[in-house]
Amino acid sequence: MITITDVSKSFDRGRTHALRSVSIHAHAGEVLVLLGSSGCGKTTLLRMINRLDSPDSGEVRLRDRDVCGMDPVALRRSIGYVIQEGGLFPHMTVERNVEIVPRLLGWNRDTRRARTHEILSLVGLSPDEFLPRRPAELSGGQRQRVGIARALAANPMTLLMDEPFGALDAITRDRLQDEILSIQRSEPRTIVFVTHDLFEAVRLADRIVVLHAGSVEQVGTAEQLLNHPATPYVSSLFERATQQATGLLEHAP
Ligand SMILES: Nc1ncnc2c1ncn2[C@@H]1O[C@H](COP(=O)(O)OP(=O)(O)O)[C@@H](O)[C@H]1O
Ligand SMILES: [Mg+2]
Repeated sequence: MITITDVSKSFDRGRTHALRSVSIHAHAGEVLVLLGSSGCGKTTLLRMINRLDSPDSGEVRLRDRDVCGMDPVALRRSIGYVIQEGGLFPHMTVERNVEIVPRLLGWNRDTRRARTHEILSLVGLSPDEFLPRRPAELSGGQRQRVGIARALAANPMTLLMDEPFGALDAITRDRLQDEILSIQRSEPRTIVFVTHDLFEAVRLADRIVVLHAGSVEQVGTAEQLLNHPATPYVSSLFERATQQATGLLEHAP
């Protein structure tokens, strides 16, 4: 579905190496999580897939076509993209926000209406209540749900999510993670999900790509990474998480 081969990218005339010869592959229908700490290149890698950024060298293929040979506008309409703040247009209602891509694709009014209703219900918001609202009239979690609904509205086969729940409280984050898993069961697609949170990665991923300083440390299921860490960095990730969890238990009443 998505194949990234030997991609490198530097900024500041070569002073910052954001990505160093990264190769990854996302299968159709899987949730591939890019996991790593801030600055390791997650966002840069994600933005190569919808051509918001282009590699210095290497290749990105989507459904076996080089994205650099594709029309960037058509490419972006075919890929759902969710960012941390939701990225909603503040002057538009929820309905207008959600139907942006279907409109651009020329869907007729009835089809758009049916889809905005369906997709809003799918992300757990009542259409009658929320479609007329504006982003300022929503909580952070609701805005994020609308951002997900918008990304899914035109039924893209591919969804890119860049720390979409990073700014939310733990309970809302939990709920939205559940929502993603349940949407994935009813309308499966290829999702590349970026996070710096190991627990979120383990919860959502079919496979995890551990990125560190612009390089891939290891790719595998959570179980493979935990039981057979390929590098000291990967084992330290799990050790730190275990210590955190143990520390929490010791302080529990
Ligand atoms: N437009 C840019 N100009 C200069 N440096 C950038 C730019 N975008 C990203 N970088 C640098 O590239 C590295 C990777 O950034 P990024 O992909 O945003 O990391 P992450 O999403 O993992 O936090 C960082 O060192 C960052 O400062
Ligand atoms: Mg980022």
